[in-house]
Amino acid sequence: MDKVLRDEKMVVRVSINGTVVEDTVEPRKLLSDFLRENCGLTGTHVGCEHGVCGACTVRVNGKAIRSCLMFAVQADGSEIVTVEGLAAEGRMHPLQQAFSECHALQCGFCTPGILMSSVELLEQAHVPDRHEIIEMLSGHLCRCTGYKGIVDAIEKVVGDKSQ
Ligand code: FES
Ligand code: FES
Repeated sequence: MDKVLRDEKMVVRVSINGTVVEDTVEPRKLLSDFLRENCGLTGTHVGCEHGVCGACTVRVNGKAIRSCLMFAVQADGSEIVTVEGLAAEGRMHPLQQAFSECHALQCGFCTPGILMSSVELLEQAHVPDRHEIIEMLSGHLCRCTGYKGIVDAIEKVVGDKSQ
């Protein structure tokens, strides 16, 4: 493994929501901070910075990960999708629409992370049942909703998709 000096900066080049971004960062810069501070993508929220709350979840090469647990330099060369990449041509993603219809958010702090994990769940080969949705949500903390609306919203999209 290459040795990195304390003040040394490193180049990170990633694709974010289809746009290639290149910047120079300190090796210790978290991916969550890189997205928010260097790229202006503040839809990725930072709660605990310890991998517990799930608010910072983004997708890296198709996998939902906690961006507070990854250094930006570790994402070099990756394809990243953040919550800003969900809506297409001004239209909300079906999950965003369902969250709105089912009252699945209040303050919205947890919502981007839950949406990113939910997109991954929906892309699985099999149709997830309510139990699997609840299991997925066990990795996300929401202080406001009581979760019912969130489960209902995801289940609605699952139902619409499997019809
Ligand atoms: S901020 Fe990353 S899991 Fe809480
Ligand atoms: S809507 Fe407020 S934390 Fe989930």
